Amino acid sequence: MPTFIARDIKELLGYLTKSKIKNKKIGLIPTMGSLHQGHLALVEKAKKICELSIVTIFINPMQFNNKKDLNSYPSSEKIDIKKLKSKKVDLIFIPSIKEIYPKEFSSYITLGKYDDVLCSKKRKNHFTGVATVIIKLFNLCKPTHAFFGEKDFQQLVIVRKLVVDFNFAIKIIAIQTVRDKNGLALSSRNNLLSVNQYKLAIKVNKIISTELTLKRKTFGNNIKAIRKNLEETGIKKIDYLEVRREKDLALVKSNKDLVNYKCRIFIAFYVGKVRLIDNISLRFNN
Ligand code: PAJ
Repeated sequence: MPTFIARDIKELLGYLTKSKIKNKKIGLIPTMGSLHQGHLALVEKAKKICELSIVTIFINPMQFNNKKDLNSYPSSEKIDIKKLKSKKVDLIFIPSIKEIYPKEFSSYITLGKYDDVLCSKKRKNHFTGVATVIIKLFNLCKPTHAFFGEKDFQQLVIVRKLVVDFNFAIKIIAIQTVRDKNGLALSSRNNLLSVNQYKLAIKVNKIISTELTLKRKTFGNNIKAIRKNLEETGIKKIDYLEVRREKDLALVKSNKDLVNYKCRIFIAFYVGKVRLIDNISLRFNN
């Protein structure tokens, strides 16, 4: 079957009714477009598990707290559609803003957990926007499985919590971060980097990975060394650089926690005006 493109809810629901989805495994991959190999890895995973695959492309204004950031967010719809067709995605849902948030729209998800750390601190209401659109997409597309990347780890933790709290019968499947040949986590925002900015951005992952392999007496010293090294390299603005537990994003302060829990180092940094995030799983045996 050729890929079907739905641009409004009526078309989406019409397609879903016709495709007799009862008892089928339906995989949803929510995206904001400008698709790269990270998004496509989610599609590939969904195609393996599910009988019907749905990719949504929607630059969700509610999750941007800054108009400039929203306006500069890249968009490449034609190329995205081509990529998704080549992956034989069944349905692409590309709604307009009005379709998702009609004039009278007035309900928002408030998060009681995981929304006072990491990206939430500098991006107020970001995850309210993410959670609200995810709930809408879950309700509209009625997936049995939904696919998310570990690249946005806080988002993943929040989505898992939404599923539990709102009793969605949806299995959340996570994939590892896809990186380019220089170790930079793929991101639609990478398109906004100049050549020199890119050269700087690729150093971040290298510095973190190298510093982490160096045994220092305390774990705090490793973090300090990473920050110093990054700053000396030219990464002057770091929103956060922290180690947290995977399951509940609790802050890790000692070597003991690293042994007892699965932990990750999380970073958000600026290269010029472009804000990038990354996280790396830690397996220490101190
Ligand atoms: P977007 O940034 O387009 O990402 C869509 C999905 O792709 C997310 O699950 C994200 O974690 C995953 N992803 C992005 N880069 C990746 C990489 N390098 N490796 C693996 N997966 C990667 O995240 C969003 O959109 C939005 O917040 C959204 C969930 C669509 C809600 O609006």
